[in-house]
Amino acid sequence: MKKIAVLNNKGGVGKSTISVQLSHGLAKLGFKVLLLDLDGQNDSSLFLGFSEDLYNKTFYHLVDKRNPSKIEECIINARHNLDLLPSSHIEEINAEFHRASRIDIILKEHLKDLETSDYDFLIIDCGPQRTKINDAVLCYIDNIVMPVQVEAASVRAVGNIYEYLSDLRLDPALVSLVVPNMYDQRTNNAKENLEFLREFYNDQDILTEPINRRVKITEAGKIGKTVFEYDEESANQFFKVLERLVTLIGDEQTG
Ligand SMILES: Nc1ncnc2c1ncn2[C@@H]1O[C@H](COP(=O)(O)OP(=O)(O)O)[C@@H](O)[C@H]1O
Ligand SMILES: [Mg+2]
Repeated sequence: MKKIAVLNNKGGVGKSTISVQLSHGLAKLGFKVLLLDLDGQNDSSLFLGFSEDLYNKTFYHLVDKRNPSKIEECIINARHNLDLLPSSHIEEINAEFHRASRIDIILKEHLKDLETSDYDFLIIDCGPQRTKINDAVLCYIDNIVMPVQVEAASVRAVGNIYEYLSDLRLDPALVSLVVPNMYDQRTNNAKENLEFLREFYNDQDILTEPINRRVKITEAGKIGKTVFEYDEESANQFFKVLERLVTLIGDEQTG
């Protein structure tokens, strides 16, 4: 099982959107996927059409010391090949992780039953900023997919993730794909900002083709559909990112 975090220290850049589209896209390609929603706003669950009234146990109930649940009680089936592990009580989870002596292995422990599951991918939708939860995620995952909104402040903040990784003594090469998001081809501003990203990543094969800003992506999320169910044009853009992801994982596995 490949463990992938969708992370960026900024909010509103497309982490939940990209988590959901990549998860459903991989599922459509025939992989078995678990999406773990670790953001307090539950956006990735909502984007898949799951509001809080549709589940009663979440990741929180896995880590709840007084009465821990089994992982299969907390997972729900969201689509063919795609399961969802929703979140709740995010502040309590964060506090619990603050008390933990070994943040580096805490997710491995809580998610140990996944080791023997038949999931090909675990995709983790992360909240913004540095939190104990995100520290734990970064110590646990194999790869980071980082969405970057194509606007000045966001592209100039791409270095933040490398500082974060460095502070945790983790390898900067964990960032394996950077996905420019909300790209507006019509403006020179967007073109300049995309160019900035291209220069930043220069000869590294990390940057994907951009995902355009499209109202249909927002609409799809609001009605709990993925782009594969709602917007062919965006679906095709996401498939290109998926190809990159699948190739990358394949290359890693063959050394
Ligand atoms: N490419 C895009 N085009 C249009 N709207 C987008 C796009 N990507 C994300 N959005 C919208 O922008 C908002 C923020 O995206 P979201 O994925 O929730 O960001 P984050 O998880 O980083 O906070 C949501 O309303 C989402 O539907
Ligand atoms: Mg989000």
